[in-house]
Amino acid sequence: MSRPDTVIILAAGQGTRMKTGWAKVMAPLCGRPMIAWVVELALALEPKRVLVVVGYKADEVTAALAGLDPKGRIRTVVQAEQKGTGHAVQCCLPELQGDPGRVVLLYGDMPLLAAESLELLCTEQAATKDGMALLTARPANPRGFGRIVRGADDSVARIVEEKDATTGERTLREVNLGVYCFDGRFLVESLPKLSNANAQREYYVTDVVGMFAHAGRRVLPVEITDEREAIGVNTLVHLSEARAALQQRIVEAHMLAGVFVEDPATTYIAHGVTIGAGTHIAPCSVIEKGCAIGAGCHIGPFAHIGEDTTLADGAEIGNFTETKRSRIGKKSKAKHLAYIGDAEIGERVNVGAGTVFANYDGAKKHKTSVGDRSFLGCGTVLVAPCSTGEGATTGANAVVTHGSHVGAGELWVGVPAKAKARRKSGSA
Ligand code: UD1
Ligand code: CA
Repeated sequence: MSRPDTVIILAAGQGTRMKTGWAKVMAPLCGRPMIAWVVELALALEPKRVLVVVGYKADEVTAALAGLDPKGRIRTVVQAEQKGTGHAVQCCLPELQGDPGRVVLLYGDMPLLAAESLELLCTEQAATKDGMALLTARPANPRGFGRIVRGADDSVARIVEEKDATTGERTLREVNLGVYCFDGRFLVESLPKLSNANAQREYYVTDVVGMFAHAGRRVLPVEITDEREAIGVNTLVHLSEARAALQQRIVEAHMLAGVFVEDPATTYIAHGVTIGAGTHIAPCSVIEKGCAIGAGCHIGPFAHIGEDTTLADGAEIGNFTETKRSRIGKKSKAKHLAYIGDAEIGERVNVGAGTVFANYDGAKKHKTSVGDRSFLGCGTVLVAPCSTGEGATTGANAVVTHGSHVGAGELWVGVPAKAKARRKSGSA
């Protein structure tokens, strides 16, 4: 693959068709914003820099970019007013002076694109010398896409947006996916010549394609075959389609690494979660971002492993149990109806059905720690902050109040829970 020098990602639009008020590229997608998926794709090309054009809710989008590239190649360019995709690229012109080399352009709303397709695009562009290449597809439903118009010799002549297309042009099935690799110098020459004389009164970057063709430079269409890659997320319906496709990729990768996901269709695993081999995930379970699951664990059915949960090897989280910001030690179990929040649980602990870690006092969250081999009776409420020592036991419905410590080996019962006096030895 020949590396591009610059990748430009357009992410300034509001996404009015989403009707949510979010910046579209901030739409949540498997545990991170949509833009993070696209930036990851761009970085996989190993460019010298990535320019992200931001505008609508620019501060939020800029904040989401922080930390995505430890090498610091991401820069933002502000497009204060959104006057079209061509205008957005024009805003990058000050960054493209001199010889900008090869420039890849993609949109922040295409999270499903495969890295292989982008690499192929760059390889094909290199073959055109001073031309360009663009990704195309022939989806069953060309909804909203710009159509590729071919000339008499069958070469790509230009792109027409659906809103500007004649009835005849709308029947064209070959569409523009919005992913391009340009000879940077001719791109820089062409951008100032764009006009907004069209149905949307916008500057279209797609018109640059016609300029390459008109100048006699090669315009290579690179057709991709997996139609699902072509999803440009414009509405919440498209977002759900993208989520399903990414979810399938995530779950399949875990299965190929030895995680037994019984029912992929009802299992949700966020991006970046790690899971050890031999772990069994029963249907209707959710594992959120920031989680690390060990080997040989059992999860579900109907378990909610919330953000930043760590399960050590052999831990079990069962039906209607929610965890959040907690570490659960080796072979510890919470098999039914529990809430575990802000907890540090040792090894071989049994969390009885109905146990609640009451971590929130209405203003602040507090922590609870549970010692190894403790046994929490059904319906125990642990009002944080509180703790138990090793081998502690609570009786059914015990309420361990704020600030209490159930000593190692002690049995506490009642409301508020108190140590149950041990029978004197020999009195039996
Ligand atoms: C665009 C293409 C269309 C292609 C389709 C593929 C143009 C004119 N049309 O249409 O040919 O088939 O993508 O999905 O390029 N943006 C900005 N600033 C702006 C306008 C848009 O940054 O002023 C960003 C948006 O945030 C978005 C991307 O550019 O990420 C694409 O814009 P969008 O309005 O979704 O273009 P489409 O109508 O989908
Ligand atoms: Ca779009």
